[in-house]
Amino acid sequence: MSGWSSETLLALAREHGTPLYVLDLDRVRAQVRLLEGFDVVRYAQKANPGSALLTALAADGLSVDAVSAGEVLRALRAGFPADRIELVSDVFDREALALIGQHGVRANLGSADLIEPYADCGASRTCTLRINPGFGAGHDRKVTTGGPASKHGIWHTELEATYRRARAAGLVVTGLHVHIGSGVELENLERTIEVMGEWLRQAPASVERVSAGGGLPMPYREGDAPFPVERYVDAWRSARDGWQRELERDITLEVEPGRFLVASAGILITQVHARKRTPDWDWVLVDAGFHTLARPMLYGAHHRITALGDCAGPEQPRVVAGPLCEASDVLTQDKNGTPTPQLLPDVCVGDALCIHDTGAYGMSMASNYNGFPLPAEVVIQNGAVHAVRPRQSLDAMLASDPFDTPPFA
Ligand SMILES: Cc1ncc(COP(=O)(O)O)c(C=O)c1O
Repeated sequence: MSGWSSETLLALAREHGTPLYVLDLDRVRAQVRLLEGFDVVRYAQKANPGSALLTALAADGLSVDAVSAGEVLRALRAGFPADRIELVSDVFDREALALIGQHGVRANLGSADLIEPYADCGASRTCTLRINPGFGAGHDRKVTTGGPASKHGIWHTELEATYRRARAAGLVVTGLHVHIGSGVELENLERTIEVMGEWLRQAPASVERVSAGGGLPMPYREGDAPFPVERYVDAWRSARDGWQRELERDITLEVEPGRFLVASAGILITQVHARKRTPDWDWVLVDAGFHTLARPMLYGAHHRITALGDCAGPEQPRVVAGPLCEASDVLTQDKNGTPTPQLLPDVCVGDALCIHDTGAYGMSMASNYNGFPLPAEVVIQNGAVHAVRPRQSLDAMLASDPFDTPPFA
């Protein structure tokens, strides 16, 4: 998040406490503009479902995807009209079906067995199908959502049967969707354009929408090449133009990004609480851990870390770790869980660190593990700071399991 001085960020940390998430809405909007070549930008709120962010995107006219009843409700409360919300889930539970039935929300079906429950719940009579093209990709095996080892989507050879089954249930299939993973390089994203063309040629004429899914990567490391977003948008647009000519009908082009819109718009500020040395490593222990930012522990993901303020001493390789009672609670680690130091000055207890590019899959994956409350969150818009979520209180954290059950006999 460029443009924010250390002093400003330190002042925010003093005012709101640490760990503290900061999200720049202006930066999110700049990312949205890069995808204007698509007819519909549907934000995948799993990346960051913060209320201020969703409210801003709803007001800007974006669409949104939801995975659960909770995410449908968040979208409705943020002001998204039902026809700009799509439920994209592997399983529809009763609450989700009741909610989309009540509001007429459309669903994207990733398994043929979802057809009948969806048709019976009174939601929209139209649906889209999520297709597994037989290949996947992503920044990690755990976020690869296509191919034979993936639970996601309807296997591409089963489309004919799925159209028949949807028709028998009284549903009209209006769209096709493909999402092969998260943090996918351009070449693999472009492969999905080819297969989409093949599916479209065999699809019923009711299919008039095509979703490119999400998965656009984020250059987390210094020196990583930026994603050639113009080339990506152009490739989908020119394919769409060709399909329209060939099929002689209009095709609406949709994209469903999460990370691309929000990752670079967020930072996490954390405070140093202890320093120590072991034979191999120089440790910096901070108040953010995998309960605050799970990506390093889950995927060995790299987030650039810098010190805020004037820290004495030369930069040396140092390992940054959190407060959890877990050996894996290390914010600088590789995919095998081995500590992987980053260059940091000789920070002292009380200093603050900035963990960069944490706007996606940061706060949305935070948990109360080990009894730590969820962190505070502020957003920045037009240069002004708004506190949107205070640090969770201990009472609020305990409220969902409130110790009012009498002892069992
Ligand atoms: C169906 C679907 N769409 C979109 C996304 C967003 O992915 P990303 O944040 O990589 O753009 C995901 C994430 O896993 C997804 O499962």
